Amino acid sequence: MSQPTSQPTFPFAPQPPLTATASYQALEEHAVEAEDWQLRSLFAADAGRFPGLTVDAAGLFLDYSKNRLDARTMALLTALARERGVEAQRDAMFAGARINTTENRAVLHTALRAPRASALVVDGQDVSADVHAVLERVRAFTEAVRGGAWLGHSGKPITDIVNIGIGGSDLGPKMVCLALRQYAHPRLAMHFVSNVDGHDMDAALARVDPETTLFIVASKTFTTTETMMNAQTARAWFLQHAPESALARHFVAVSTNTEAIRQFGIDPANMFPFWDWVGGRYSVWSAIGLSVALCVGFGYFQDLLAGAHAMDTHFKEAPLEQNMPALLALVGFWNRQFLGCGSVSIAPYHQDLSRFPAYLQQLDMESNGKRVTKSGAPVDTPTCPVIWGDCGTNGQHAYFQLLHQGTDVTPIDFIAALRPAHEYANHHAALLANCFAQSEAFMKGKTLDEVRADLQAQGLSLANIERLAPHKTFPGNRPSNTILMEYLTPYTLGALIALYEHKTFVQGVLWDVNSFDQWGVELGKVLAKRIESELTGSALPELHDSSTNGLIAMAKAAV
Ligand code: F6P
Repeated sequence: MSQPTSQPTFPFAPQPPLTATASYQALEEHAVEAEDWQLRSLFAADAGRFPGLTVDAAGLFLDYSKNRLDARTMALLTALARERGVEAQRDAMFAGARINTTENRAVLHTALRAPRASALVVDGQDVSADVHAVLERVRAFTEAVRGGAWLGHSGKPITDIVNIGIGGSDLGPKMVCLALRQYAHPRLAMHFVSNVDGHDMDAALARVDPETTLFIVASKTFTTTETMMNAQTARAWFLQHAPESALARHFVAVSTNTEAIRQFGIDPANMFPFWDWVGGRYSVWSAIGLSVALCVGFGYFQDLLAGAHAMDTHFKEAPLEQNMPALLALVGFWNRQFLGCGSVSIAPYHQDLSRFPAYLQQLDMESNGKRVTKSGAPVDTPTCPVIWGDCGTNGQHAYFQLLHQGTDVTPIDFIAALRPAHEYANHHAALLANCFAQSEAFMKGKTLDEVRADLQAQGLSLANIERLAPHKTFPGNRPSNTILMEYLTPYTLGALIALYEHKTFVQGVLWDVNSFDQWGVELGKVLAKRIESELTGSALPELHDSSTNGLIAMAKAAV
């Protein structure tokens, strides 16, 4: 983690508090009018609601019509986006301005997926040339490993790849490898070790053979405790089975910190660099995606980048009124600020996207889980909601009960592919039917009268009808988005990830928070270091509260 500098070069003047802006105040007034709106009535009153509140971009389709808003709401929200400078700040990000003010860094993950011809030069540095030089190395390395030219120390081809990393150095590669498993190399098994919990490493090492395993140590900083401990453990395990001279065939590293990699003992030829302007949670497009390129091949990795680039181009060029990431952000903002929704559930109706909610948790909550503005003043409204979720249909048989009938209103993003990559047509029809039925059920609900009529038709007594009806009523009027693609491919997945990245960016601009730092993770890291030395050393814990002292004493007694 680099230290903040005292000279940020952010090119924008401090923003006024959100609630003091004219367009936010107009939205507050509008929200009073909209308080009693019912989605059923909004659909009944407007035959053009679906075409009016849907948008296509980069192989994705977004239906946001099942939200409690109308054209005027969207006009007010886009006016707010303009007043907050979304377009200017977006352009500044793409151009390489140092919009990460507390770390005085540019934010250029979009440059990682731009074609070579984009020729982006920032502060005199040819960023495009740097990016494509590393991509070329990734290509050569992945082709050697996948093609069998890169051999383990005893002359056998690689069969297992263990990515050692955490946070952005784990969640992106792991999520993408799983999502694109249809494209995976049949000889290569992918493993991901992130947790400092030795059970994680233990489970991975039990499944691999040191003669045919390639370890990728992935860490932007190369100082992250979990990753460093896991990397040392993997190295020690490997050296129990092979000579030191064999390390170079089995350990490679991805990082911005080449000096630390050298000190770890990894061959400089096996380092894949990236740059401080790539945030950890935005790094799957960089050499951190090495495990993805190894898994699916460089061509499909390029398709992933191309899909993201297509979404970048759309985000950069489309007017806010038809701009998919901006619209997704504005709808989410409306639900958060004016409907008071404190969490958002992500429901991929595609088993291969099962890690997507976890990926979005870091992307969104590490980016916008902030409570002060860029100038350090308290944000005067709530910010990032909690992001959580799991695959449909599994979630339906677990927590959807709360989503349908609980006291909190939780907006849901449904994500599905229109065509499957398998041949079980009946499964796919059932899956999509469930996806669409759920969004319909959340929107419409089921009124007390409808429930009574149903129960009457089933021949229940009046007393039983009155006893059961409240339990079987659904309030409905619960917001959701549906995102569709034709197939889940590297291209559409790239577009989907970039869609959420830019959604996160736009919301950060609305709240005026720095979406690109993560100081909130630091305190726990510092305290853990201290407690670790108390657990492993002889010093008695005296500096803590009685609870922490008590817990430490229990752990020490158990050793
Ligand atoms: O502690 C949070 C964090 O810094 C994330 O932002 C990052 O993705 C993760 O840790 C891993 O960091 P690194 O890639 O430097 O090991």
